[in-house]
Amino acid sequence: MIKEATISAIPTSADGLSRVDGRAKVTGSARYSAEYKLDGMTYAVLVGSTITKGSIASIDTKAAEKAPGVLAVVTYLNAPKVPGYQVAKNPAKPEAKSGPLKVFYDDKIMLNNHPVAMVIADTFERAQYGASLVKATYNKEAHDTKPPKDLSKGTEPWGGKEFSRGTKDAWQNAPIKLEQEYTIPNEFHNPMELHAIIAKWDSDDKLTVWDKTQGVKATRGDIAKVFKLKEEDVQVNSQFVGGAFGSALQVWPHEVAAIIGAKVVKRPVKLVLSRPDMFNSVGYRPYTWQKIGIGATADGKLVGITHEAAGQTSSYEDFAEGPINTSKGLYACPNVTTHYKIVSLDVGTPTWMRGPGEATGAFALESALDELSYKLKVDPIELRMINYAKTDPDNGKPYSSKYLDEAYEMGAKQIGWKDRKVEPAQTMQNGWLVGYGMGGGMFGAYRDKATVKAVMAADGILTLQTAVSDIGPGTGTAMTLIAAERMGISPDKIKFEMGESSLPDAPMQGGSATTATVGGAVYDACTDLKQKFQKLMGNGGADKLDYAKILKDHNLPSLDVTVQSSLGADGQKYSMQSWSVHFTKVLVHPTTGVVKIDKVVCVADSGTIVSPKTARSQIVGGAIGGIGMALMEEGVIDHRYGRYVNNNFADYHVPVNADIPQIEALFVNKPDLQINKMGAKGMGEIALIGMAAAVANAVYNATGKRVRDLPITADKLI
Ligand code: MOS
Repeated sequence: MIKEATISAIPTSADGLSRVDGRAKVTGSARYSAEYKLDGMTYAVLVGSTITKGSIASIDTKAAEKAPGVLAVVTYLNAPKVPGYQVAKNPAKPEAKSGPLKVFYDDKIMLNNHPVAMVIADTFERAQYGASLVKATYNKEAHDTKPPKDLSKGTEPWGGKEFSRGTKDAWQNAPIKLEQEYTIPNEFHNPMELHAIIAKWDSDDKLTVWDKTQGVKATRGDIAKVFKLKEEDVQVNSQFVGGAFGSALQVWPHEVAAIIGAKVVKRPVKLVLSRPDMFNSVGYRPYTWQKIGIGATADGKLVGITHEAAGQTSSYEDFAEGPINTSKGLYACPNVTTHYKIVSLDVGTPTWMRGPGEATGAFALESALDELSYKLKVDPIELRMINYAKTDPDNGKPYSSKYLDEAYEMGAKQIGWKDRKVEPAQTMQNGWLVGYGMGGGMFGAYRDKATVKAVMAADGILTLQTAVSDIGPGTGTAMTLIAAERMGISPDKIKFEMGESSLPDAPMQGGSATTATVGGAVYDACTDLKQKFQKLMGNGGADKLDYAKILKDHNLPSLDVTVQSSLGADGQKYSMQSWSVHFTKVLVHPTTGVVKIDKVVCVADSGTIVSPKTARSQIVGGAIGGIGMALMEEGVIDHRYGRYVNNNFADYHVPVNADIPQIEALFVNKPDLQINKMGAKGMGEIALIGMAAAVANAVYNATGKRVRDLPITADKLI
């Protein structure tokens, strides 16, 4: 199946290319959305509701309007009409939800901190002071922010119908079986860079925004739709993004608010969310309840898995993901039943968050598999190998590539799996209990359509252009490496331009698809450009080309190509997945219940590693996210008020350096030539998927205590 790689796998040592934008980032010359300075800039601050459900009874903006520097106070009473908001309810579907939150649209309050006003002033501080003077009263209604622990209240979203492969609930008739419930709390993306937008109307129907987004083209399309503008009249810039993890995959109300504000004051408006605002304005990983029934024969062959899940969503919009998908595809199990529902609450709408769906599902499934391994008295890795899927159990297709077995082996060796005691709570090290755990995951390896323009100029500099955003993984670096290899030139002769909607089409940076998608297009564009040069020379064969000299000899200022590239028709024949496994060694204090992560080894099967340094960063970052999910992250709502009580970095805990040991990132590094010519699959999502289970499983191995409700805080272990 695997042909020889057409791009040499770059060794996974520390010798890879450093980030091409590293200097710009550390010196501050890289500009993020909030950092642009425009003439006549004004500053907007949102005022949020203090109730969670009901309507605005009165809103007094007089004091704010009179405050120094205040230019406007926008509320639903005076906001200009947003054309895209004026959609009639579909009479055929009276029960349909109203859709994405419409800002300053009517008096309704749908969630706590629902924007009720926006104060715009000539400085940020004056806007903030003005915002403190807005007074609203409310008609309060009873709210419900508390998710139930079962499926009974839920509704079936798209794809949520009960599904069975083979016999329904077959696990119940297996000789060895267990059934357990698992929950994950609401978790928040919390990128370091706050969501921010600068909106500027260039004329009545032409708009420019500098906006934190994972996709400038998609954001342009959405804004054009909401404001009924022509797409080409909207320019979206997002050259640098300081992390997003899924929170910038769509246009949120604060973005619409800033654009409305710029219309009102006829000047550019900058709106930066506060950290507390980040907890209910830009999505989150939803609370999800899961129940897994799993059964096997005495020798460990899986008989059946039943996986039910219920996730929370808002009252106005459905958000659904695929926590149950992992159970359909990770193991060769003949009988699988899944059922997924969503439960509407008076909260904000969740969204995709790194490893969306699969990270949630893998916590439950990989915990359940670990529990089963103890019942069976079979090593957890062996149990996974007994049930290793050689073809996709969900659709019967062959995998484009799968080396998860090698990943298991590499990781087990590196973590010292042989030192793991089979019985829990057997080992002490300096007064701490020692445990080992592992958990794996999969995520679809996607390749979308992208267009890249490649220009070789007379000075020998190659410029590549495409509208992708880089939310932090180092897209420019990976693309530069692909182009350097293809063209046979040094990386410092390459410029990669992105993050502007006027550039050639590229999809959002999401679903771990950028390297495969945009990388595939860079590969093809460079191949075509090189051929163009070879043709010009008439020899067709020479491999090492002096591009500047050829251009000079032919008296040409430059040569360029624009190439659109996507997955070939052959791709449909395969199931394309990236795979990962995480291993942890943890220490648990027997008296205090404190968990220390002692060692982490992550192994990814994500095809060819194009950029070793940034690939390592992806894996390390994902693993840290997984440690946060396992041990710390939990959005806590005071249900009496419907308000988050830990909506800041002091109270919402994420791992810091002191919580993180050296993390080893290993790569199988074998090409998947079905997906693209580099052989590269995605890795951002699998970097996190499975990690929380690896920690939970290690904690069990250390203590004999199984925590099924994340996060695993000390109080759950004493
Ligand atoms: Mo990601 S959750 O596809 O940004």
